Amino acid sequence: MPKDSDIWRKRALVTGAGGGLGRQIALDLAGRGVDVAATDLDAAGVEETLALCRSAGVALLPLAGDLTAPGAPTRTVAAVTEAWGGLDILVNNAGYGGIEAFLDMNEALWDRTLAINVKALALLTAAAGRTMAAQGGGRIVNITSPASRMALPNYAAYAASKAAVDSITRAAAVALAPSGVLVNSVAPGMMDTQMQRATEAVLARIEGRADVEVFLAERTRRVPLGRRAEIAEVSAAVLWLALDAPPYITAERLNASGGLDRD
Ligand SMILES: NC(=O)c1ccc[n+]([C@@H]2O[C@H](COP(=O)([O-])OP(=O)(O)OC[C@H]3O[C@@H](n4cnc5c(N)ncnc54)[C@H](O)[C@@H]3O)[C@@H](O)[C@H]2O)c1
Repeated sequence: MPKDSDIWRKRALVTGAGGGLGRQIALDLAGRGVDVAATDLDAAGVEETLALCRSAGVALLPLAGDLTAPGAPTRTVAAVTEAWGGLDILVNNAGYGGIEAFLDMNEALWDRTLAINVKALALLTAAAGRTMAAQGGGRIVNITSPASRMALPNYAAYAASKAAVDSITRAAAVALAPSGVLVNSVAPGMMDTQMQRATEAVLARIEGRADVEVFLAERTRRVPLGRRAEIAEVSAAVLWLALDAPPYITAERLNASGGLDRD
């Protein structure tokens, strides 16, 4: 990774940057002068994100596509290194979560959840790790969830996939430590993104709650800080690990969940 005194800009790849938290992270990185490659299933969302980044005057690279397609993680990292000669920051933010009653779980939901949240994240981490190791450094930030340490019978595939993210973060941090590559994670609290809204509406139905607004308010009250997370607050935690945290911090899980996750 270039040192602060170096004149070249850092280069970041943000997955799931077509909206929600990923869009905010892309915008904030661009605002800090970092070149941003953005990838998502949603090609129009990627274009919109990069249009919002344009005024920052950094280099921007749209890379829409399905990260669960065969070879996609390696190809995506290669596209960035071919365009810019290297990669300094990877934010593994793309994710999927579906609600289903535990006893009614279905294969398609498990396949889709594990393919993006676990397999693509691991392969992206390894591909970026190889590039960063050859460069002599870099930083990887994985987005996990408080769900990874909770008993969530109607959200089991998602919770298990995020427990796997924690496991991959620890393994990658150790594998890449000798190369000067730092691997950490952020666990966001409930943010009112598209994913969260869709998830909670189905959860209310499965739990037999007719009044969704009352259900949501109850869930918010469980957060010790008494409110949901602003997307910008979670993005700030990601940027701290990606740019500012001391280089002795690796294998860390940073809770940005208002006290929901206290470990
Ligand atoms: N919203 C919350 O409250 C919350 C809480 C904890 C953790 N998280 C995590 O934060 C991250 C961002 O979530 P968000 O809330 O912004 O949700 P979101 O649905 O707005 O964003 C996720 C993005 O990932 C993309 N994506 C999904 N599958 C993909 C694939 N196969 N290939 C490429 N892109 C794909 C989606 O298109 C979407 O744009 C996720 O990892 C999520 O699990 C969210």
